[in-house]
Amino acid sequence: MERKKIVAGNWKMNMTPAKTVELIATLKPLVESIDVDVVFCVPAIDIVPAITATRGTNIAIGAENMYFEESGAYTGEISPEMLVDAGVKYVILGHSERREYFHETDEELNKKVKKAFEHSLTPILCCGETLEQREMGITLDWIRMQIKSVLVDVPASDVAKMVIAYEPIWAIGTGVTATSEQAEEVCKAIRECIAEIYDEDTAKSVRIQYGGSVNAGNAKELFSQPNIDGGLVGGASLKPEFGKIVNYK
Ligand code: 13P
Repeated sequence: MERKKIVAGNWKMNMTPAKTVELIATLKPLVESIDVDVVFCVPAIDIVPAITATRGTNIAIGAENMYFEESGAYTGEISPEMLVDAGVKYVILGHSERREYFHETDEELNKKVKKAFEHSLTPILCCGETLEQREMGITLDWIRMQIKSVLVDVPASDVAKMVIAYEPIWAIGTGVTATSEQAEEVCKAIRECIAEIYDEDTAKSVRIQYGGSVNAGNAKELFSQPNIDGGLVGGASLKPEFGKIVNYK
């Protein structure tokens, strides 16, 4: 079975609740698509207005983070149950900004991925190398290590349903996009890594996105690669341009 493309916006720390309603009103008619799953990953405080504003549309709402405990004394954190109750379907886990500024580790991400699946949330698990690592020639080793560490004891049946986003750190917010060859090489290696840990069927069903300066001009070329199943979009997801990225064909 062919994998359905998935294009997700990562709003990062942008948009107030009031601006969320306005932006969704603008984007809603532009992102209608039957071929592509469309997700808006929004800041925690924008989740409830985003769910309300997208009711009855093809847009699913995702969170940008989540904690791995059920509930309790974890001031400032958000639990999977809270996300599910609000109507959230996806959760970005392990974005490089969270790894860098909030010191998230692969070990914690492993707990978060398992917890997300316990609550039937679909993780969008991020991985990616720095420019220094790329120049050292260790990109594929690094990515394989990230994937293997985060997926320890995660069953194949869950991995088959998840989304993995390859986001080279040097391409995020820089306007420098990976070439389609560079992006395809790593996305292919991720799929091979899943086949190695699990099996061919699991590798064939996992969806792998590319992220890092995706725009209306490069989306078609990137998303047409055999192992790239869509994109995780930052800056351009806050503009009408996102409609062109979803309708990249
Ligand atoms: P940009 O599209 O702004 O480069 O951001 C990519 C990203 O980090 C998406 O998660």
